[in-house]
Amino acid sequence: MKKILLLTSIVVVLASCINKNNETAKANLDIIPVPQTMIVNSIENGFILDSKTVIVSNNSENQFNAEFLQSHLENIFKKDIEILVETQERVSNNSINLNIIDETQCEEMGIVNDKEAYLLSVTLDEINIFAIDAAGIFYGIQTLIQMMPNEVYSENANKIAAVDIPCMNIVDNPRFKYRGLMLDCSRTFFDVDYIKHLLNGLAHYKINNFHWHLADDQGWRIEIKQYPKLTELGAWRGANELLMPAYGSGNERNGGFYTQEEIKDIVKYAADRNINIIPEIDLPGHSKAVAVTYPEIVCDIDSKHLSVQGESNNVWCVGREDNYVMLENIIKEMTELFPSKIYHIGADEVNMNSWRDCDVCQSLMKEKDMKELVELQNHFVRRVEKILAKHGKTMAGWDEILDGGDLLETTIPYVWQNSERGIKSVKAGQPTVMQVSQYMYFDMKQSPDERGLKWAAIIPLDSVYAFDPIGHFELTKEEEKLILGPQGGLWTECGQVPGYAHYQLFPKVLVLSEIGWSAYEDRNLEHFKKRLFDSHLERLYQMDFEFRVAPPTVKYEDGKLIADKDYEELVIRYTDDKSTPTLESAEYTEAISTDKPENYRFATFYKERSSIARGAQNIELYHYQKPNTTVTSNVPMEQDIDILADYNMNTYCYTARPVEAGDYFLYTFENPVECEKILVGTGHYGLAIVGLPNAVLEYSYDGENFIKGDTFVYDYFDGYKAEIYPEKAVKAVKIVVTGIGECEYAILQDLRIE
Ligand code: ACM
Ligand code: ZN
Repeated sequence: MKKILLLTSIVVVLASCINKNNETAKANLDIIPVPQTMIVNSIENGFILDSKTVIVSNNSENQFNAEFLQSHLENIFKKDIEILVETQERVSNNSINLNIIDETQCEEMGIVNDKEAYLLSVTLDEINIFAIDAAGIFYGIQTLIQMMPNEVYSENANKIAAVDIPCMNIVDNPRFKYRGLMLDCSRTFFDVDYIKHLLNGLAHYKINNFHWHLADDQGWRIEIKQYPKLTELGAWRGANELLMPAYGSGNERNGGFYTQEEIKDIVKYAADRNINIIPEIDLPGHSKAVAVTYPEIVCDIDSKHLSVQGESNNVWCVGREDNYVMLENIIKEMTELFPSKIYHIGADEVNMNSWRDCDVCQSLMKEKDMKELVELQNHFVRRVEKILAKHGKTMAGWDEILDGGDLLETTIPYVWQNSERGIKSVKAGQPTVMQVSQYMYFDMKQSPDERGLKWAAIIPLDSVYAFDPIGHFELTKEEEKLILGPQGGLWTECGQVPGYAHYQLFPKVLVLSEIGWSAYEDRNLEHFKKRLFDSHLERLYQMDFEFRVAPPTVKYEDGKLIADKDYEELVIRYTDDKSTPTLESAEYTEAISTDKPENYRFATFYKERSSIARGAQNIELYHYQKPNTTVTSNVPMEQDIDILADYNMNTYCYTARPVEAGDYFLYTFENPVECEKILVGTGHYGLAIVGLPNAVLEYSYDGENFIKGDTFVYDYFDGYKAEIYPEKAVKAVKIVVTGIGECEYAILQDLRIE
């Protein structure tokens, strides 16, 4: 932030702001994203906003804005707030004026010529928001709403009599024109209300693009009238469906889709809030959901080539001319639903090998004199690019679209693999969006012992804040201009139930907001965290976002357990029996002396919300036995099956085919093992995916006669697991599969013997 000693002046303002009575709330100045310029003029008096304040609009384009502000103010004051148009006579000056002005006026006021820029001015008598466009007015309103007490977010909140706002000027505009969030609604279906609620949060933090990942291997989510099977069959996963079950959903049917009416409703809802919705259908790979419903779209071979995610036969045939007819028909219907200029076609992670085995693809290669398969990919991308251009759309795709040939100069690569791909993109002259996975993949773990993926990186909030879309590369000014802005993304193939999706998204969305909007020089992690913790966690709570509560750091030193937390308002609770702390657990107030540190678990709480439970991070929490063990199975495995007996949870063993009823995995101990408990997990440890939803655990004291134990049940962290508590030494345990798995393969784990 420029031109003012912000922190000192705000502190003075707040300290001198004496409530007129108990019900007058002070304005909150912890704005996220931090504005470009914020000048607090007066420290003595402020504007008193109350139920008599009227909203005055000078332009019919402000209709939604005025009503949006009105409903928020009514939450505070519990009275009807009046909206007037400028020509109506006003009884007092007690007003908030929404002024759409022209370019010349903007220039005179020092407002940047940008439809999202605004000037928010607070004087003793009135508040004015000036902007060249309704979008800027909307953002001025969002800034004003952030100054209101937390009651602003909820109809059910307590009444407040007035809000005292210091006189000030905020002149603000975004650093980047594009500030996006991508949500994968294919792997996990999120319903209409969930999407709208999320859009509210994005709008509050001035994020202006929602990249809606609507089609992938695990589900097609847009109703297309000409191809009804896409959603009749391709939107559903389960034991009796064409698509394999969703992780964690067992044998239940899982999925859903958005009707065309619902999509129109969501698009309008977003547009009112200055959010453009970019649809993505992922092509030509990631297309299992299409391939199971219209199998003719893939190469006419039985391909054994697997995608990175383990799917086969999920790639559109490039040489099949009818595919482009179908794609144009689909795109035509989409253009009736999505006014967005940008349409995203994925194009990531295509296993191109099936094109090598396909006669039709091969003859196209020959005809076009292509040497590499990647040129076929470029051919496909260019064909779709052309269809989109015909319908007035600009194509976007993941950064693989940079490979294998040229693109139209308007086409937008979305960089995900690494920052260097961003350099490649702008050096090729392409406008570019930066969703660099090492920073902006919100499905990654936030610390080593939390749930989530980690192939890109373990990404704590601080790392996201450190990301800059332009980076510190040697780019010319022209190249820098090609970087449209940052985007955060949440992939949901790891069984992200809606609450967990919020956990991964918030508060990182607020970081994204500041990266995208605020001036680079004004970014300050400590200042951001202060605003976040002092004000915005509670705002997120009031807006009903299930944000992540940062777990405590815990260490064991000199016979004492010492726990620490990110900020003062969090409460640390603990247990001494390895159980997960609850609201009823003891509060941690000082170091705990103990010689059994492995039995303690700690968690931080924000109100009733808690972090993950954590033990001391510098000691081994579990002392698993490691007896000599032999593992056998009737199922062929991708890796040496012996690694299931190396007692290293970081080595995995995958089946080389889908599991089926009757399959078994037998763990036999060299000598019977005395133990309290054996935990048998399946699937990817710490991710709860690719386990065995249909299986029973058996165990034997003599290695011959087996006793039936528990069936495998789903655990949010561990995936499908079963436990036994034997009465005497155990000679063997056996997993017996009773039905299908979760994927085209299954993952087995080492035993955890205590
Ligand atoms: C991607 O993560 N495959 C874009
Ligand atoms: Zn083909």
